Amino acid sequence: MTIAFLNGEFLPLSEAKISPMDRGFLFGDGIYEVIPTYNGSPVGFNGHMSRLSNGLNAVEITNPFDAPMWNDILSQLVEKNRQAIPSGNIGVYFHVSRGTDVKRFHAYPKDIAPTVFGFAFEIAPPQPTDKSQAKPLKVALQQDKRWQRCHIKSTSLLGNVMHFQAGVDAGVNETILFNNDGMITEASSCNVFIVKEGAILTSPLNHELLPGVTRAIAIEAFKQAGLVVTEAWFSKDELLNADEVWLTSSSKEVAPVIEVDGKPIGDGKVGDVWLKAIHAYHAHKFNA
Ligand code: PDD
Repeated sequence: MTIAFLNGEFLPLSEAKISPMDRGFLFGDGIYEVIPTYNGSPVGFNGHMSRLSNGLNAVEITNPFDAPMWNDILSQLVEKNRQAIPSGNIGVYFHVSRGTDVKRFHAYPKDIAPTVFGFAFEIAPPQPTDKSQAKPLKVALQQDKRWQRCHIKSTSLLGNVMHFQAGVDAGVNETILFNNDGMITEASSCNVFIVKEGAILTSPLNHELLPGVTRAIAIEAFKQAGLVVTEAWFSKDELLNADEVWLTSSSKEVAPVIEVDGKPIGDGKVGDVWLKAIHAYHAHKFNA
């Protein structure tokens, strides 16, 4: 049994209860973060904190804690769950919903206390640094049907859930999304990178995609390692004809993709640029 955090208290996850009148439950009215930690060290803590604060500001929820307080909760969750998750690969989920109202009414009251929830869960071990150990992914491709504010890490994830489920139903790991212009935005729970003739591309940030913390750390890491990376739109045809495709997220780090919509990417194997990229990512991730 893991230990969770709810409104100032640490308690067994099964004992953490909220009201059904919580606006997070009724409307998905909340903001969340997932922060990876390995043997107690978080990756991208500052990036997660600024995105949390930006998201809360964007939807007018007061951030209940400052960064040192969030850091203390994170450390305590990792510490209290060390035995339950002995691998030390621990993801920490933070969720701030607008809080519990007395009625169901779309407009939000300005004077309710946010509900703050955190829990710890096991994530995959760090990506291996040799090609034979990598577990490459296969993905589906779909038109992005989500809302116009995908840069906000909202707990209203039904659009993402439906896209992800479509991939699972097709027997693959994820679903990559393209917008009305046929340009790749992101995947349902990851950002997307491609490699063509040695050049690394990832979609530029706008309202159509989440500013991934892993994406930002990866861009910095690649630049430091001398890899050329450009933030520019690429089409689904460019994706399908890329030499390599990668997904980034807090739980996947930089993950190689070998098949999109049933078509092999490049030679259908984990690529050489990925190998350089994952070395660069590991060398930089705890300094980000
Ligand atoms: N997903 N895009 C979307 C839509 C995401 O949900 C995520 C993260 C990312 C990558 O962001 P980051 O690198 O900051 O994890 C991109 C998290 C892990 C989740 O919902 O579980």
